[in-house]
Amino acid sequence: MSWNATSGLTPVRTWWGTLAFRLTAGYTISGLLTVFFATASLYLVLITNLDRSTNLFLADKVNVLQTMLRERPNDVDALREEIELESAARRYERFYIRLLDDRGNPLMATPGMADQLDLQQLVAKTQDRPNRATAMTGKNGRALRVISTAVPVGSPPTHKDIIQIAVDVSQEQELLARYQRWFGAIMLGTFVIFPLAGYQIARRGIRPVEEMATTARHISSTNLRERILPAGYPVELASLADTFNKMLDRLEESFERVSRFSGDIAHDLRTPVNNIRGEAEVALVRARTVDEYRDVLESCLEEAVRLSDLIGKLLFLARAESPLTHLQRVPVDVGELLGSVREYYEASAVESGISLTTAVAIEPVIAALDRPLIQRAVGNLVANAVAHTPPGGTVVLGANADVAAIRIEVSDTGVGIPAEALPRVFDRFYRVDTSRSQTSGGTGLGLAIVQSIMGLHGGRAEITSQPGEGTRVTLHIPIAGTPGEIN
Ligand SMILES: Nc1ncnc2c1ncn2[C@@H]1O[C@H](COP(=O)(O)OP(=O)(O)O)[C@@H](O)[C@H]1O
Ligand SMILES: [Mg+2]
Repeated sequence: MSWNATSGLTPVRTWWGTLAFRLTAGYTISGLLTVFFATASLYLVLITNLDRSTNLFLADKVNVLQTMLRERPNDVDALREEIELESAARRYERFYIRLLDDRGNPLMATPGMADQLDLQQLVAKTQDRPNRATAMTGKNGRALRVISTAVPVGSPPTHKDIIQIAVDVSQEQELLARYQRWFGAIMLGTFVIFPLAGYQIARRGIRPVEEMATTARHISSTNLRERILPAGYPVELASLADTFNKMLDRLEESFERVSRFSGDIAHDLRTPVNNIRGEAEVALVRARTVDEYRDVLESCLEEAVRLSDLIGKLLFLARAESPLTHLQRVPVDVGELLGSVREYYEASAVESGISLTTAVAIEPVIAALDRPLIQRAVGNLVANAVAHTPPGGTVVLGANADVAAIRIEVSDTGVGIPAEALPRVFDRFYRVDTSRSQTSGGTGLGLAIVQSIMGLHGGRAEITSQPGEGTRVTLHIPIAGTPGEIN
């Protein structure tokens, strides 16, 4: 396939580059070859059989005369009957016989033989090839086969006579010529019919592909609704159409998610900005005391912090998705990392009346991880657990490892997550109870960030929850290499 230099991706359309043309050419060539070999082999069989029957006929005649000359050399009447009468009486199977003595003087011949063929030529043709049939042309242009044989006369033989036989094979030649004309006509027909039929078959076979191409051409980000109806398609193309439809389903779903996501961003950015604006406007309506201005500024600062926090999270997610993001892996003692996260959240847990503990295997779990990112992921999980656990509850941070992966677990005895919400908690901006999360300052990005950190580490996050009993989030991180290898 040749490619258009200007667009780079669009193949240049040439008729000989089409699938229809290639299929048609393939059909036609194989059709022509098949017909050619079939007809040619029939022709060969025909020629061989005709030749053989002519040769048998000649051998038979020679045999009869040979026997007669050996057994009854003096029965001239019988010889005459055989040579002069029998051959003359035949209408369709014409043959001519001549009997010569050993010096070449003619003894007997089919009447009119000399009119039909040049006897001189007959002698010349057969001289070098005794007992072998040879082709010769008669005086009126008819095709002949001739043979000449010396046969012993009498028993015991006294001398040798020469038998010359010519058989007219023009009917056989005519049959072959007719066959050749047929052969030509059939080849010509094949040449016309095969491309036409082949093209029709190819077009019909390719039609589903063209329909798929048309559907694909109609697809755009605003129109992902279109699907291919594979009814009546051959199995292979039906499965391709099905794959294509499934791809469209996924595309439609992710486009929907993206547009919902940008709507959510706009909404979440607008709220703090509106708050700042509202408070500033109200404050400016009349003169305020210094304390009142301070209050307004503090409140504005709070909103600005919220805003920059949100933007920071969005930027983080965007960067985590970029293929250029590289991890800074260093050997991390996971137990020690969990301890530092616990310390960080200790105060707020105590304030909420929650016990926050770590449960790490006695053997230190050490792995090559991007420490700040893992710390952030675990921090998000602990923040969630603390936020959704009522006073008196427990939050436990645990870690264990095997040869292939390490697992970090954050479990709580909190309110849990309803089963129907569970599959969506990792979605961006998804919050189970919007009003409650809003008060706790959640943006619905915490678990999305956890998931993208896991993605960067080639791991995954798993969540299980029982409403009313608690939630457990497990981070599975494959071990990328021994800490010693990290530099
Ligand atoms: N440990 C947990 N217990 C109960 N609900 C949870 C827990 N962790 C997450 N959730 C639910 O999942 C939602 C999404 O979590 P997250 O992405 O961290 O967003 P948020 O900013 O709301 O914390 C939360 O709004 C909350 O409803
Ligand atoms: Mg959260």
